[in-house]
Amino acid sequence: MVEHLVPPRQFMQASLDNYRPDPDFPSQAEAVAAVGEFASGAAPKRGGLFSRKKSDDSRPGIYLDGGFGVGKTHLLASLWHRARGRKYFGTFIEYTALVGALGYSDTVKALKGASLICIDEFELDDPGDTRLMARLLGELVASGTRIAATSNTPPNALGEGRFAAQDFLREIDALAGQFNTVRVDGVDYRHRENSGHAVTVPGEEVAERLARIEGETTLDDFAAVLGLLGRVHPSRYVKVVDNVAAIGLLDVQAFTSQTDALRFVAFVDRLYDAQVQIVASGTPLDEVFPADMLAGGYRKKYLRAVSRLIALTSGQRE
Ligand SMILES: Nc1ncnc2c1ncn2[C@@H]1O[C@H](COP(=O)(O)OP(=O)(O)OP(=O)(O)O)[C@@H](O)[C@H]1O
Ligand SMILES: [Mg+2]
Repeated sequence: MVEHLVPPRQFMQASLDNYRPDPDFPSQAEAVAAVGEFASGAAPKRGGLFSRKKSDDSRPGIYLDGGFGVGKTHLLASLWHRARGRKYFGTFIEYTALVGALGYSDTVKALKGASLICIDEFELDDPGDTRLMARLLGELVASGTRIAATSNTPPNALGEGRFAAQDFLREIDALAGQFNTVRVDGVDYRHRENSGHAVTVPGEEVAERLARIEGETTLDDFAAVLGLLGRVHPSRYVKVVDNVAAIGLLDVQAFTSQTDALRFVAFVDRLYDAQVQIVASGTPLDEVFPADMLAGGYRKKYLRAVSRLIALTSGQRE
């Protein structure tokens, strides 16, 4: 199972060299530098007169904290590519699924001895999972493994401006001192290139457009997909889209149920990881989360899903 722990396809070429720091947000260039230093395994600095202010880069952990689309996963994958030795890359959910499948002690055995473990989208939603992961990471760090993680969007994070580093450090408790947190500000990179809307096509064109896409494609009514997502556990969504190049969604409608909306968000994350294109008719997918949901506690999750939906439908832009 652990051999699947590599960056998603779209990040296979990600490097610190092809990350383009936004000059309007200096923290991006700083993040590149910090990741580069971490990658080189920087030995503890002496702290000469002119370098005393340098951050403590000898810590075995680095945590990239930022809003959506600022390139956290890109930077994490860059780090993974640079690392030598046995190394793993997965989302928080993938690691918890691994523990679920192998059990705790076999997971420790499988991961022990790795030089680097990258955890994308560290979740703080479930205290049990957070404790489990903190314990796992604690054992691995103690045996010499270095850890890199990125933030996910905590459910109570109202507004895009709120960062999760404090929550992360508090939740991982004893491990907190091992992490250097690096904040990455900025605007959604995907919007630098895509205009801000998800593309819709007329219902009668969906099948035809899918036929032009190479690889396996599927076509369903949006309502039927929501039904399916309700019957399958979110940890299995990844199987649902396994090997699919594109999905067709007919007659997309705005959500009226928060439960459906959150399931769809989890599904979109899996589509995005696998870079599954979306061909959709009906309501534009960036308008499916109604204002009352966007104003609520899951705002950041919804906005990130919108950003990802815009990217995944952009192949249909004329
Ligand atoms: N500064 C950048 N230079 C070059 N490519 C970038 C930059 N920032 C992001 N990207 C690209 O934009 C896309 C989105 O970035 P990425 O997925 O790394 O962001 P993220 O912060 O992890 O977002 P999310 O919150 O959705 O997980 C990726 O394809 C990534 O390679
Ligand atoms: Mg990401």
